[in-house]
Amino acid sequence: MDRSTTVLIFEAPLGSGLYRDALRLREHILRRPLGLTVSAEELADDTMRQHFCAVDCGVVVGTVSLRPLDETTLHLKQMAVAEQKRDARVGSQLVTHAEHWGASAGFRLMVAHARVGAEGFYLKQGYAQEGDAFFEQTIPHVRVTKRLA
Ligand SMILES: CC(C)(COP(=O)(O)OP(=O)(O)OC[C@H]1O[C@@H](n2cnc3c(N)ncnc32)[C@H](O)[C@@H]1OP(=O)(O)O)[C@@H](O)C(=O)NCCC(=O)NCCS
Repeated sequence: MDRSTTVLIFEAPLGSGLYRDALRLREHILRRPLGLTVSAEELADDTMRQHFCAVDCGVVVGTVSLRPLDETTLHLKQMAVAEQKRDARVGSQLVTHAEHWGASAGFRLMVAHARVGAEGFYLKQGYAQEGDAFFEQTIPHVRVTKRLA
């Protein structure tokens, strides 16, 4: 059965209601299951990031954010989709949107640290895995990259 849901994707400027909803989703999906909370360091890092959220029927159901590492490279981070909207292409739409945003801003490479277990999602989006696993936020990750058109 095709579960695809077409979502609206918006920028979520720091301090906006959309940003607050996206932060809540990140906390729920990415930190609580690890026994963590969004740290002060992450909130500081957020001030240097471009945040996007996926909205379905007025509800934030996905989020991702981008930080320039240098003039050509963007770091994609904080990728999370609400449990009830998984496998409905919400994550793919967010990544595609982030890549278009990056390419149109002149960036050439997207980098992400994929949780081991979620790397298959990035490989499906055309990312390549590089190097060995490393620990971040207490769990193993692998670096994945993709050239932006
Ligand atoms: C990983 C995550 C963002 C994927 O979002 P999603 O909206 O469910 O993914 P999509 O529906 O867009 O999936 C696109 C494709 O990736 C595949 N995919 C999704 N999650 C996958 C996973 N964990 N491993 C392997 N493949 C995966 C889907 O099966 C689909 O494949 P297809 O093109 O052959 O049909 C989501 O499951 C999530 O939020 N997980 C918990 C948090 C997390 O791990 N975030 C990533 C941190 S690096």
